[in-house]
Amino acid sequence: MKAAVTLQSGSPEVIEIQERAIPEIKEGWVLIRIKAFGLNRSELFTRQGHSPNVVFPRIQGIECVGTVEEDLSGTYTKGQKVAAIMGGMGRDFDGGYAEYTLVPLQIVFPFESNLPWSTLGSIPEMFQTVSGSLTQALEVREGETLLIRGGTSSIGMLSCQLAKHLGLTVISTTRNKAKKEFLTANGADHVLIDNGTVSQDLKELFPEGVNKVLELIGIKTLKDSLRCIKTGGMVCMTGILGGEWTLREFTPMGDIPSLGKLTVYMGEAANLKKGMLQDFIDAIADGKISLNIDKVFRFDQIVEAHTYMESNMAKGKLVVEI
Ligand SMILES: NC(=O)c1ccc[n+]([C@@H]2O[C@H](COP(=O)([O-])OP(=O)(O)OC[C@H]3O[C@@H](n4cnc5c(N)ncnc54)[C@H](OP(=O)(O)O)[C@@H]3O)[C@@H](O)[C@H]2O)c1
Repeated sequence: MKAAVTLQSGSPEVIEIQERAIPEIKEGWVLIRIKAFGLNRSELFTRQGHSPNVVFPRIQGIECVGTVEEDLSGTYTKGQKVAAIMGGMGRDFDGGYAEYTLVPLQIVFPFESNLPWSTLGSIPEMFQTVSGSLTQALEVREGETLLIRGGTSSIGMLSCQLAKHLGLTVISTTRNKAKKEFLTANGADHVLIDNGTVSQDLKELFPEGVNKVLELIGIKTLKDSLRCIKTGGMVCMTGILGGEWTLREFTPMGDIPSLGKLTVYMGEAANLKKGMLQDFIDAIADGKISLNIDKVFRFDQIVEAHTYMESNMAKGKLVVEI
């Protein structure tokens, strides 16, 4: 098979397409013939050398969609459409940047769909993250207000779509004024320009603050996001777009408003019930939710795809189709 192997940490050019043996089937694992996979920022961090536990060379890729080639347990039949997400994929063992991958049974999700593979490839990890952050971490309810910090990211865009679908009022942020229309077209009720603080502008719209904040920029804006919630509100940090990992000065009684809640979401396949992916795919097929796919690359364009992701030019998910 052809596989895109990350030879060592470094710039996108450290990824090289090589001939590799198709992984051998074993008990408890499923061999998948890959049709497409989404690109993820965590793969970019890993490639840059920020994942100390990942040993190179490694076939990266924390998600994929494709068809079952072999499953000794008989749970899935040959040719059945499936997605695989996380569980150490592309990090502890070889992942989705290849024509075939061997993954544990537990991280396989079956689905039926006539949507193109390039569309299906954008879904699994993005949906797992958005659904887990909104419904499990933030426990969003119809009628609530939600601030999405880092609104133009693919996670931010889909979160807006899902939140609108669930009946919330959404305020999305971007640093770039030129992207304002884009966020409105995606369904945001309000757009705020983020220069590091948006709490004052937000309080002009919602004097008491919002019910929930999905924090995708991370540490850099976290304290300001805590200033955006109303009494009993909640902030969930899911992303780290700002690139900072540690909050140096943090005074819980002061930085967290009284009765406010702070949580994080670090998604895993286990957070997604088997039927939820199918429901989401059906909502896309029925036109109830539209995905933002910025670009679909061919497999031999993997270096170009990583370079593009690193440029921050994308306005939506990047997908590679095999
Ligand atoms: N917790 C989990 O389970 C999980 C799973 C998947 C992803 N994530 C995280 O979720 C976040 C979003 O991922 P994604 O793939 O959706 O991202 P993405 O689509 O690549 O995000 C691109 C956007 O991020 C914004 N951005 C880039 N650098 C920034 C900076 N230094 N400060 C503020 N904004 C910046 C830019 O927005 P503007 O130019 O418009 O401001 C850009 O349009 C990432 O941090 C990712 O690691 C978490």
